[in-house]
Amino acid sequence: MRGLWFLTALSGLAVAEDGLNAWLRYAQLPPNLTRHDGIPSTIVALNATETSPVYTAGQELQKGISGILGQTPNVTHEVSDAASVVVGTVAAFNSSGIATEVPALEEDGFWLSTKDDKVEIVGQNERGALYGAFEYLSMLAQGNFTEVAYATNPSAAIRWINQWDNMDGSIERGYGGSSIFFARNGISSNVTRISEYARLLASIRVNGIIVNNVNANAALLSDTNMAGLAKIADAMRPWGVRVGISLNFASPQSAGGLNTFDPLDSKVISWWNGITDKLYTHVPDLAGFLVKANSEGQPGPITYGRTLAEGANLFARAAKPHGGIVMFRAFVYDNQHLNERNWKDDRANAAVDYFRDLDGKFDDNVVVQVKYGPIDFQVREPASPLFAHLQKTASAIELQITQEYLGQQCHLVYLPPLWKTILDFDLKVDGQKSVIGEDVLSGRRFNKTGLTGYAGVVNVGQHPTWLGSHLSMSNLYAYGRLAWDPNLDSAAILDDWTRLTFGLSETVVNTVASMSLVSWEAYENYTGNLGVQTLTDITGPHYGPNPQSMDNNAWGQWTRADAYGIGMDRTVKNGTGFAGQYPEEVAAQFEDIETTPDDLLLWFHHVPYTHVLKNGKTVIQHFYDAHYAGAETAATFPKQWEAVKGLIDDQRYDEVLFRLTYQAGHAIVWRDSINTFYNSLSKIADEQKRVGNHTWRIEAESMTLRNYRSATVNPFEMASNLHVVQASGGSTASVSAPLNFTSGTYDIAVAYYDLAGGSASYELFVNDKSIGKWVGDNESKLGYTTTNGVNGHSATRITFKRIEVKEGDTVRVEGKPSGSESAPLDYVAVLPPGVVD
Ligand code: GCU
Repeated sequence: MRGLWFLTALSGLAVAEDGLNAWLRYAQLPPNLTRHDGIPSTIVALNATETSPVYTAGQELQKGISGILGQTPNVTHEVSDAASVVVGTVAAFNSSGIATEVPALEEDGFWLSTKDDKVEIVGQNERGALYGAFEYLSMLAQGNFTEVAYATNPSAAIRWINQWDNMDGSIERGYGGSSIFFARNGISSNVTRISEYARLLASIRVNGIIVNNVNANAALLSDTNMAGLAKIADAMRPWGVRVGISLNFASPQSAGGLNTFDPLDSKVISWWNGITDKLYTHVPDLAGFLVKANSEGQPGPITYGRTLAEGANLFARAAKPHGGIVMFRAFVYDNQHLNERNWKDDRANAAVDYFRDLDGKFDDNVVVQVKYGPIDFQVREPASPLFAHLQKTASAIELQITQEYLGQQCHLVYLPPLWKTILDFDLKVDGQKSVIGEDVLSGRRFNKTGLTGYAGVVNVGQHPTWLGSHLSMSNLYAYGRLAWDPNLDSAAILDDWTRLTFGLSETVVNTVASMSLVSWEAYENYTGNLGVQTLTDITGPHYGPNPQSMDNNAWGQWTRADAYGIGMDRTVKNGTGFAGQYPEEVAAQFEDIETTPDDLLLWFHHVPYTHVLKNGKTVIQHFYDAHYAGAETAATFPKQWEAVKGLIDDQRYDEVLFRLTYQAGHAIVWRDSINTFYNSLSKIADEQKRVGNHTWRIEAESMTLRNYRSATVNPFEMASNLHVVQASGGSTASVSAPLNFTSGTYDIAVAYYDLAGGSASYELFVNDKSIGKWVGDNESKLGYTTTNGVNGHSATRITFKRIEVKEGDTVRVEGKPSGSESAPLDYVAVLPPGVVD
């Protein structure tokens, strides 16, 4: 296999790629896998209307087959004997008189049969036919020519995307460039990327998209913007993706000139009816609305003493005559009045507290959209107990493809293993099997017909790679696959994605798998363990470490860490009572510290740092060890990736390598700051004596300084040895020191801080020999939320490999400040082979 791939690489397959085609590249198969017989010569798409997904399927099949097999079939719309691929709906097959034995299909489902050079793709509806075409092309692109005949149906009817795009073109929690939908407070005039996005979404069987932020702007409801919305819908319709919008509850007042937005006020009701009717004249197949109400400062029905159900039903009734639905978010909590001094206060309780008694009070076209965990997309949370309480109300799960708390697409974190902890979780409602994906979201468990499913928060932007990171795209791909079938295997989905994205080389497939499948665990290890949440800056960018920001505020993401212990007591007997929100069996499991799994220990229990885990370690030692293990795993990623050099195009190889290298450095920043913080709080030493001891580092503040001055940082633990140096003027500054290490070959790493407001330039020397130059310009290369602070978001490092060093040599770093970036340095590490520090 390897040798063969060497050949294909040489034969020019490795042309630079920017990622725009994602997993729909249709790259030509290598000669040994290409079929020369039975290449489809004619495609019959049983619909000649250009806006029809069946028509689109015909075009896509032609494009795909021509790319993959190198021969372009004709597309017609009339059945003929020459036809080798026929795609259409069940109804169209029947009326064309083609005899086919298709089992009963559900909405959006399809039948695919590839036999004797004849391919039949039969959709229950037009969308299903298009999905079948993509499935067939996915097989071909992976060199899979086996004969198949099967039907597949979606696990749930709702498989939507939520973009959090603002009308000014920014994206809330966006790390992949600006919006493809909006610009300058209106709708983008260029719909090319919108239609390309719809193509990607159709290929993973996503059938709806909310295009604007949940923190919604009523300006979207102007006549001009409604007309623009129609253009978006027109661009997405041929791909079977229906468009919907987020609504701002206060619009009747803020945009409609009324003096109220009370959902029971007749003026308000008729205002919304009028707006909805108008929207449907522009977009007759509008999927519906998404509403965030009474949460994080957003207006809602509670403002008028009305229930959340009364609020949701207002929109449901306006949309009902048009066939629209309302996704009403369960992410409702009061961030003004949570008080950490009250041991029983708990934000995690909010969703069930607000919604439990409303079950059955929602109209039948309302779907309550529930974040996977009770807080907010943390690195680990238990499943939301609300899924057990919505028995008469349609519900959907909200997953986040956007890596808001998970490395902002600058860290590789393959999310399906995290999502699986929720989708595979059995809530055991009334003692019966109630697995969230298979039973609850499918509607089976509570006999819900029709409306259940999935909403995925995505921050696709103008970046050529959509999410800003090639590897993050596996999460978007996997989201669609899991929404169709939550029982799919995360590793198998990933392999499909890799083959489609990077080609069929086994080395590439294995490398992506071996990094991705441990990436979430590694990230959890170096961020927040044992269910304590991602220990990031929750009042700021949600990116780098800042454990103390979690407490002493009303956001309710508390750790309750003090000098003696850590964790939220959520038991019924002594804590916030959250554990009791689960059905009996599950509640009993979490109530008891003995039966609570280690990885959720601190979510449910407050324990001393010396509490011994089931793995035999104390909590504090586990923190230390996990942080070291996580950073060590991240350090293997760039090395692993080097194995694919030459097996994929250089552009994507380099771009991925850059991010993985950055991640390896930032994982060490995480490791050190979290360990320093808890070490200082608990005063308990690391049994392995690593925390605070860095044999191979030379702290910048201890070097000879020229135009640099030593400073502390905020928070204190964001610098090695608690100090950095910052240039004291605008001219070049330097730090230098003798190298007291045995002569040999070392990697030299320089830890520095890369701020938003400047691009300082640096140079590393050993004696007077320049080892390398670089610029602090991560802000233009990586999409994370930048800051102007010297802190855990800006902390980064660069490594120069295999440098010959003699004992007594002098190492020197020169830094030239730029803008507000004072060329801050933390330390220089001189690392023997294999040492991660
Ligand atoms: C998080 C996120 C916000 C977002 C909110 C939501 O809190 O940080 O940016 O608006 O979730 O889901 O509504």
